[in-house]
Amino acid sequence: MQAITVRDRDAGVGGLTLTELPYPHAAENDVIVRVHAAGFTPGELDWPGTWTDRAGRDRTPSVAGHELAGVVVELGYGTTGLTVGQRVFGLTDWSRDGSLAQYTAVEARNLAPLATDIDDAVAAALPISGLTAWQALFVHAGLATGQTVLVHGAAGGVGSIAVQLANAVGARVIGTGRSCDRDVVLGLGAHAFVDLGADPVEDAGEVDVVLDVIGGEVLERSTALVRAGGTLVTIAMPPTVRPKDGRAVFFVVEPDRSQLAHLAQRVREGRLKPIVGAVRPLAETADAFAPRRRIPGKTIIQVATEQEGKRP
Ligand SMILES: NC(=O)c1ccc[n+]([C@@H]2O[C@H](COP(=O)([O-])OP(=O)(O)OC[C@H]3O[C@@H](n4cnc5c(N)ncnc54)[C@H](OP(=O)(O)O)[C@@H]3O)[C@@H](O)[C@H]2O)c1
Repeated sequence: MQAITVRDRDAGVGGLTLTELPYPHAAENDVIVRVHAAGFTPGELDWPGTWTDRAGRDRTPSVAGHELAGVVVELGYGTTGLTVGQRVFGLTDWSRDGSLAQYTAVEARNLAPLATDIDDAVAAALPISGLTAWQALFVHAGLATGQTVLVHGAAGGVGSIAVQLANAVGARVIGTGRSCDRDVVLGLGAHAFVDLGADPVEDAGEVDVVLDVIGGEVLERSTALVRAGGTLVTIAMPPTVRPKDGRAVFFVVEPDRSQLAHLAQRVREGRLKPIVGAVRPLAETADAFAPRRRIPGKTIIQVATEQEGKRP
């Protein structure tokens, strides 16, 4: 089968190579998914799990990408909860071969069923951004109706979902980003926008929750905006400063079937729209990791079509 692999940490995006690999092995509680659409994160080549397994051993060549939509074609020993032929979507383990491949082995619990009315590309754009936004707002920060949340990078993958989820729960949402993001962010349901290139982040005022995806100075200065009892959640880096009378949390997103199902249901109901900026073929993955122009939202790799997936 074809897959996009990396071997050399120093090669960067140029090291992403279209490779012929053996069909994967389904271990206990795994399924094999025929991948239709795959998502990736440009920064994943810096993540430890891209290069080593859970014991810290070199696992290269490793298959990149961690988000997928596709069809279950095989069940591992003892796997329950999913069936052969079922459409699924979800998040693959950081330290196993990923989703930029025609087939991949995934723990069944990392996947959720996918209804026929959700497009493969939309579903593949949902797992990392959707789960991260959900876990940041509701699991780590406990965002509630009537509270105010500051969402940094609000036009990006995580931020754009966070704005929609926070708005839906009845929070007041302040989004940040670049000047060109203003209309998109307000269109997603933010009540106010701070252009970080022109305005001080302090313009946001006091908030109950900060969701940071940028890190550095933006993260540090936002800490002072968290009111007593509030929470700063960052997915960018462990924070070096904490709110005076609040919590600071850094976390790495985890797969969760029931949260995936909630997200998919909102997409079906038209209450959540992941932004798919571009769809490209597997052979163009390296270009997609380092696009020549700024593409809003997620770039999705179309590995196979639904029709191709039905061929024997
Ligand atoms: N810890 C975790 O579990 C976890 C999970 C998901 C993602 N992440 C990480 O979180 C980060 C965000 O992920 P994402 O998928 O949301 O990325 P993304 O789609 O690139 O979104 C980031 C957004 O923030 C904007 N931005 C960045 N720096 C900015 C600045 N200084 N001023 C104004 N706007 C700025 C970006 O604009 P430009 O595109 O113009 O720069 C973009 O709109 C990435 O580093 C990713 O690796 C971590």
